Amino acid sequence: MHDLVILGGGPGGYAAALYAHNFGLSVALVSDERPGGTCLIRGCIPAKQWLQIAEVYSTVLHASDFGVMTSEPKLDWDAALARKNQTVEGLVRGVSGLLKQRKVEVLLGRGRLDGPRTVVVEGPDDETRVEGRNLIVAAGSYARTIPGYEIDGTRIVTSDHALDWPAQPGRVAIIGGGVIGCEFASLLAELGSEVHVIELLPQIIPGGDADSVKLLEREMTRKGVKFHLGKSVEPARHGPASVTVPFGDESVEVDVVLVAVGRGPRTQNIGLETAEGLEVERGFVKVDLATMETGASGVYAVGDIVAGTPQLAHVGFAEAVAAVTHLATGRPAPVNYQAIPRVTYTHPEFAEVGLTEAQANETGREIEVSKHGLGGVGRAIIIGQNRGSVKVVSEKGGAILGASIVGPQAGELIHELMYAVGWEAYPSEAAAFIHAHPTLSEAVGETLMSAAGRSLH
Ligand code: NAI
Repeated sequence: MHDLVILGGGPGGYAAALYAHNFGLSVALVSDERPGGTCLIRGCIPAKQWLQIAEVYSTVLHASDFGVMTSEPKLDWDAALARKNQTVEGLVRGVSGLLKQRKVEVLLGRGRLDGPRTVVVEGPDDETRVEGRNLIVAAGSYARTIPGYEIDGTRIVTSDHALDWPAQPGRVAIIGGGVIGCEFASLLAELGSEVHVIELLPQIIPGGDADSVKLLEREMTRKGVKFHLGKSVEPARHGPASVTVPFGDESVEVDVVLVAVGRGPRTQNIGLETAEGLEVERGFVKVDLATMETGASGVYAVGDIVAGTPQLAHVGFAEAVAAVTHLATGRPAPVNYQAIPRVTYTHPEFAEVGLTEAQANETGREIEVSKHGLGGVGRAIIIGQNRGSVKVVSEKGGAILGASIVGPQAGELIHELMYAVGWEAYPSEAAAFIHAHPTLSEAVGETLMSAAGRSLH
């Protein structure tokens, strides 16, 4: 009997296992692959490694802009893929090492609940039962597809396959202009592939701040991505060596189709129905967001399977911390969902926190919007990436409600605005701090000064 049994070894599951040491809990972690999950093995980490490879390529390609003369770069795809694998391997080993250090019992095999205190682990030859005073379900998600696009791993793929392409595809159609679609579009276009993004809705990154997303779309278009927005695709037509994707009156013929239309919860056949009181809604597990506990006492859910919370690795980490704190202490320690940074690692990056302008307007409050472009920001000019903007949304006479940034390092810069949103700072309070010169962060400082009513540059 362990204090805690965790089903799922991704960011939600392994974070819960690691954090439990703070309370001296004995933990078993059940995972059908080495701990690391989508994020480490086929998500965030390998995707960002590929984006970095594309950035290095692009930097060398444009080195002459800085007076640095090179021959034209050539991508050694095998070497790039090896680097991606090496990065993933290092981090996966690191997680396993940490789990070992914290004395977590890792059970490899497919797990399913058998009541609210037991997980049955299917090994290659036999089944093991592991019991816990508490259970955390962190089963993660899978890449969805749409009718007419059966995933074959070669011509029609998901991000699972695209991270391991054996060679660079020449022509790619990406269905879905969400986060995954845009990140792949960015890296493939930067490496010289022909890229089409076909998105059902009229904007990319649906839900993102309309202005900032427009700016991102413009920058990605400049880099060669062809967006087809507000288009619904018809089933793929397979040729001998290509696939045609029809949409509206148009179609594109490509070598490979990447389907990126969202991720579904992996909650089928894991015995959730055996935990009495646990409710599932369209595959997602319902929890009390103050504690992450499901309707079954002592059974918690965290990460991508949770109903109504963002499918982000860092949300999984935070939910794991909240669940473990509650089960260990009995006290709620809820996640602050209002101040979660959302980053799309395209080039340029797009990052947001808090409410978009449209969402702030929907609250009925009188709001103010302040923006500062990167055009005149010294550091941005120095690095040759001065296209982009910072936007801050605040309540008139009140606190900062949200922000979005398009530009280099947006994913880093957004964090100072995360504190502003989380602490409900007034623009004048945030603007009172001085940013170092010359930095990209000055663009945030300038926007805050404008939001406080007195701009500088
Ligand atoms: P998503 O929900 O972000 O985007 C899916 C897109 O596909 C939407 O724009 C949707 O309108 C579109 N779509 C749906 N059906 C379509 C159709 N039939 N034809 C054309 N377009 C269609 O999901 P995505 O990009 O697959 O990512 C999955 C999850 O992984 C997301 O929750 C995302 O937040 C997370 N993720 C986060 C990353 C990050 O934080 N940087 C990176 C990658 C994924």
